[in-house]
Amino acid sequence: MGLFITFEGPEGSGKTTQIHQLAAWLGAIGRDVLTTREPGGTRLGDAVRRLLLDPHHTEMRPETEILLFSAARAQIVGEVIRPHLARGGVVLCDRFADSTLAYQGYGRRLDLNTLRMITAFATGDLAPDLTICLDLPALEGLRRKQGCDQGEWNRMEREKLEFHERVRQGYLSLAAAEPARWLVLDALRPVEEIQNEIRERVTVYLTQKK
Ligand code: TYD
Repeated sequence: MGLFITFEGPEGSGKTTQIHQLAAWLGAIGRDVLTTREPGGTRLGDAVRRLLLDPHHTEMRPETEILLFSAARAQIVGEVIRPHLARGGVVLCDRFADSTLAYQGYGRRLDLNTLRMITAFATGDLAPDLTICLDLPALEGLRRKQGCDQGEWNRMEREKLEFHERVRQGYLSLAAAEPARWLVLDALRPVEEIQNEIRERVTVYLTQKK
């Protein structure tokens, strides 16, 4: 079996940069690495992503939202992630099921156990081997987004600061409950320092999985 690594964190935490650098390094050391993101990563998932993030869909119910995220997730797990893991590859996924617990659970205050059940159904119980959380205060993350985004903010980004702060605290609670799976890093540190810590931890997993 391959290695499944997910990246999580509040808005503006710099996941994308870290994922790109890690993917380049894994490729250079000869690993078969696949990078993808949620929601999306498949043709159907990208269609669902447009529904989910369109700021015009202000009427979307929290229950609709979780089912749409889960629909996109079921597709990417079956179509992309499981086949690559079965070939022995490394999968780097920008957000996965923990985003649902943080955003729909802690953010929207939907029942965590219900979310876990729906997520388990969607993924067929697939869980990451390692989850890297880039942590920073919600306000700082939103400021960073504001600094680099040219276009308009998506439906989730438009939520209140309190929502994003609950998401951040949610991640920290999830990580504290399962410390062996999570690596929480301070996203305010220099990019290279964060990348080095990530590589160190990934090296441990690669050695174990040989
Ligand atoms: P995206 O532009 O991909 O955000 P980011 O660059 O921060 O990853 O938008 C995805 C948004 O959807 C983001 O605000 C997090 C949210 N989200 C959920 O609320 N639940 C989920 O299960 C997932 C996967 C994402």
